[in-house]
Amino acid sequence: MDSLETIKENIKEPQTNYDIHSLIQKRWSPRSFSDKTISEEQLFELFEAARWAASANNEQPWQYVYAFKNSTGFGQLWDCLLPGNRPWAKSAAVLMVAIQRKTFKKNGKLNPWASHDLGMANAQLLLQAAHRDIYGHMMAGFDKEKVNALLSLEKDSAPVCIMALGYLGSADRLVEPYKTRELSPRNRLSIQEFTTVL
Ligand SMILES: Cc1cc2nc3c(=O)[nH]c(=O)nc-3n(C[C@H](O)[C@H](O)[C@H](O)COP(=O)(O)O)c2cc1C
Repeated sequence: MDSLETIKENIKEPQTNYDIHSLIQKRWSPRSFSDKTISEEQLFELFEAARWAASANNEQPWQYVYAFKNSTGFGQLWDCLLPGNRPWAKSAAVLMVAIQRKTFKKNGKLNPWASHDLGMANAQLLLQAAHRDIYGHMMAGFDKEKVNALLSLEKDSAPVCIMALGYLGSADRLVEPYKTRELSPRNRLSIQEFTTVL
């Protein structure tokens, strides 16, 4: 009983106490992706969503370097992943690095909100992806030095995460412990645990 609909609707889709947007309800981080490819046109639609994210001083301190499955670049990015992410991430249709520019363009001073703003862009990208039945799984588990070397990143830029993107695949395609994780419900703190009225 691990049909994609069962996983999506009965396991991964949260029961919420409040009526939230269906795309927020739909998004989750899978580990199994189908063989369906993502076109550059589709990917650019996701970048368009990222493009309109808010950022401090409208700095837009984000950059994405992406590669499609079966390309040399895909293999190079996959090679930067830590062992725990490699077995499942290889089924992604796209791997991409989300990079923050840590300094303001106009004066070179540190931008303390850079990773916040990259996160805003990522969130918008992922919700737009969900709108197209594309799912993303972000990974901090990668070798930062390897990515820096591969992409020849400037000192004021830093890779924050590598994102796997693709259409959902069956959990049966995964080995353990990934299969069990794919079939486990998601959990969260209660609202009371992260909010305070003053
Ligand atoms: C910045 C960041 C780094 C993450 N790194 C990893 C990772 O290296 N490996 C992994 O399997 N999941 C990783 N995740 C996924 C989280 O574990 C996942 O988002 C969280 O458990 C909540 O699940 P959900 O996205 O399905 O709601 C990462 C998520 C974020 C936002």
